[in-house]
Amino acid sequence: MATVLISGGTGLVGKALTASLTRQGHVVIVLLREGGTKDASAGSGNNSVAPVRYACWNVAAGTIDDWAIAEADLIIHLAGANVAAKRWSARRKKEILDSRVLSGELLCKAVSSIPNKIVSVAGASAIGWYGPDPQVPNPQPFIETDHAHDDFLGSTCHAWEQAILPMQGLGKRLSVLRTGIVLSPDGGALAEFRKPLRFGMATILSTGRQVISWVHINDLVRLYEAAIFDPAFAGVYNAVAPHPVSNKTLTLQLARRLRGKAFIPLHVPGFILKLVLGEMSIEVLKSCTVSSSKLSRQGFQFAYPEIEAALAGC
Ligand SMILES: NC(=O)c1ccc[n+]([C@@H]2O[C@H](COP(=O)([O-])OP(=O)(O)OC[C@H]3O[C@@H](n4cnc5c(N)ncnc54)[C@H](OP(=O)(O)O)[C@@H]3O)[C@@H](O)[C@H]2O)c1
Repeated sequence: MATVLISGGTGLVGKALTASLTRQGHVVIVLLREGGTKDASAGSGNNSVAPVRYACWNVAAGTIDDWAIAEADLIIHLAGANVAAKRWSARRKKEILDSRVLSGELLCKAVSSIPNKIVSVAGASAIGWYGPDPQVPNPQPFIETDHAHDDFLGSTCHAWEQAILPMQGLGKRLSVLRTGIVLSPDGGALAEFRKPLRFGMATILSTGRQVISWVHINDLVRLYEAAIFDPAFAGVYNAVAPHPVSNKTLTLQLARRLRGKAFIPLHVPGFILKLVLGEMSIEVLKSCTVSSSKLSRQGFQFAYPEIEAALAGC
């Protein structure tokens, strides 16, 4: 059994990973921000057989509990200020960037200076790396070798991935998961899609034709586990299901699932989204078709390749 150090272990993905790893008997050490609250629900319940331990770090001060690095066999680096939680003011953008870059740099510095037995590291990144689909008929899906887009999210993802890259030079097997929109019963994007449905409204954003590249939380957990445990994993992978869907398809499928026929489809014009969300509206209006072929070539089998089953499993 392994000891897995998880940064961002209190978040949506981190909690699901902690629960899965502890159920299998692995020990998880969750890195908590100093002054943060210990979330006892991480890994609790779900027939966990191994304990969750907590260590502290302070990214701004550049400090981290040495014992956590010394005891870990594997690291999963998820930490980062939530991209969708607040409007993107200049201050928030700095927080989104710094929380990813400075934390990655701190982990690398700690691994280089504290004696350890870490074998492999998996880091989060996002499909925000890619820009919008090219405006041509049947655009090719984005693949891992495509360049980072030159907008805020593209440059943030680039800096985020660069920050963790020194792990390779330290002899650690490094995988980076460029993650699509995570569909989970416990929050994230799906919770936002569900809100208007409580009032019988299926809100299609703008034309609804924009493509959403998504991944079910259970598949993402399995991917992180493969990335840390399977020696065949190394490098960058698009963590998206093989069948992306349009915003309209996702919204209407969810509406039918939750409300049968008792809903009204409602298009929210793009300019309203721009007013409400500011620059962040780019992300909900952008069409981004991302390929999962590299994972398929690696032999990864998605439990939720299609949106219908994924929504049923949320
Ligand atoms: N969910 C998605 O749809 C999605 C899609 C693409 C990529 N990702 C990426 O995957 C990772 C995990 O996603 P998630 O949905 O689990 O995110 P999440 O729920 O927002 O959790 C993020 C975690 O990062 C920590 N964090 C927040 N601000 C921080 C800061 N300033 N410094 C250090 N740590 C900080 C939080 O810890 P505290 O408890 O201390 O606040 C939390 O545990 C994130 O990096 C996210 O950007 C997620």
